[in-house]
Amino acid sequence: MFMTRMTRALAAFGVTLLLSTAHAQGTADDSVYRAWGEKAGIQAVMQDFVTRLQADARMAPFFKNANREHLVTQLTEQLCQQSGGPCTYKGVPMKEAHESMDIGRRDFNALVEVLQQSMEAKGIPFAAQNAMLARLAPMYRDIINRP
Ligand code: HEM
Repeated sequence: MFMTRMTRALAAFGVTLLLSTAHAQGTADDSVYRAWGEKAGIQAVMQDFVTRLQADARMAPFFKNANREHLVTQLTEQLCQQSGGPCTYKGVPMKEAHESMDIGRRDFNALVEVLQQSMEAKGIPFAAQNAMLARLAPMYRDIINRP
């Protein structure tokens, strides 16, 4: 009887130890990824986003000739990675992808505004919207080419 209890206690301890070790080893926090509805949820927002970018008067000049499918795929990979999901963005680095464009702070802000419209339209919870924006914001240094 005693041994059984002891064995159970040890087993429980072992599981706890395993879980905490996995955590300590840096298992990614994927809470934002999950709040976005995982990869399918992110992709749905990105499809809506690219549609809006091509329709928005401020953004259309940049995106009118964009390869829609490629852009949706690359954005989905990138936001999946940024949100802690199981993806690795393998596309062109942000600086390189945008250096031939004339992008200023106002353009960046306008793009974020369009992204907010898409997140709202697709029902992304407000906290998860902000968490994603906070992870994308530092990229502006590599994306804008003038003040
Ligand atoms: C946080 C903000 C942004 C992110 C995360 C982002 C991300 C990306 C990604 C992943 C690509 C695809 C690169 C590839 O081909 O592998 C791309 C391309 C592009 N981006 Fe951005 N971008 C951002 C801001 C902007 C801004 C502010 C503009 C212009 C106002 C812009 C204009 C473009 C254009 C025109 C392309 C090329 C589309 C094509 O021809 O397929 N981006 N961006």
